[in-house]
Amino acid sequence: MGTSNPAHVAIIMDGNGRWAELRGKNRTFGHLRGARVAREIIESCSRRGLKQLTLYTFSTENWLRPLEEVSFLMALLSRHLKRERANLVKNGIRFQTIGDIDRLPASVRAEVDETIRATEHCTGMLLTFALSYGGRQDIVGAAKALARKAELGLLRADDINEEMLSSELQTGRMAREYGLSFSDPDLIVRTSGESRLSNFLLWQSAYSELYIDSVLWPDYDDSHLQKAFDWYSQRERRFGKTSAQVERHPHQPEPSI
Ligand code: IPE
Ligand code: IPE
Ligand code: MG
Repeated sequence: MGTSNPAHVAIIMDGNGRWAELRGKNRTFGHLRGARVAREIIESCSRRGLKQLTLYTFSTENWLRPLEEVSFLMALLSRHLKRERANLVKNGIRFQTIGDIDRLPASVRAEVDETIRATEHCTGMLLTFALSYGGRQDIVGAAKALARKAELGLLRADDINEEMLSSELQTGRMAREYGLSFSDPDLIVRTSGESRLSNFLLWQSAYSELYIDSVLWPDYDDSHLQKAFDWYSQRERRFGKTSAQVERHPHQPEPSI
């Protein structure tokens, strides 16, 4: 049984450096081109009526890259947000971030905050940049928050459940602070042929479909996205159940044992 279009797509935009190096250029050339592609894919996802798009923009571990590359990426991000803000508003796209944005340089942080603010009234697609983001760090943060509550006597260890932990993650914060519900991604796309998550949405990806495309991110376009959607539509999402169970009409009760 096929599945319809994904409501939430998350993309690991990878391969900028290799794309530039293949052309004998500096890695930054690939990032420049990659930012342009990101803009096109954001628009195309919004046109397709996607509810949520999450882009892995900069990982916790990316801070360890050479200072020159990190500085370039920060400047590029700042410029991208400044330029794209009006377009996001025009397309009704709501902007959010997950990750430790306190580590961003103040000028970049200001552009991030301003973009969140400027799109606060938008009711279309929720666009989330994973920025200075690491899935493990996020889970550690949630564990600390729960431990603090336990220390204060606000909860008992035995009461901790999945929902509670989820709500302390960065994605849960969006619900608390902004009333936005960040759903688990239905489809995660990674470009450049690498088949790993690289610390992206570790908790939320438990049942995501993973699509690896060999194309390098600067060459990615709407036709690649279409291929990923077509592939997704052929998946059977069983969430641990059997095929016969998920094929049953949703309103049909499960047979009693
Ligand atoms: C993805 O491209 C962009 C970021 C991680 C910021 P890379 O810069 O990782 O490019 P490759 O993987 O080295 O080719
Ligand atoms: C993941 O790509 C991070 C982003 C795309 C922002 P990396 O290029 O950093 O991941 P690894 O090092 O190949 O696993
Ligand atoms: Mg890479």
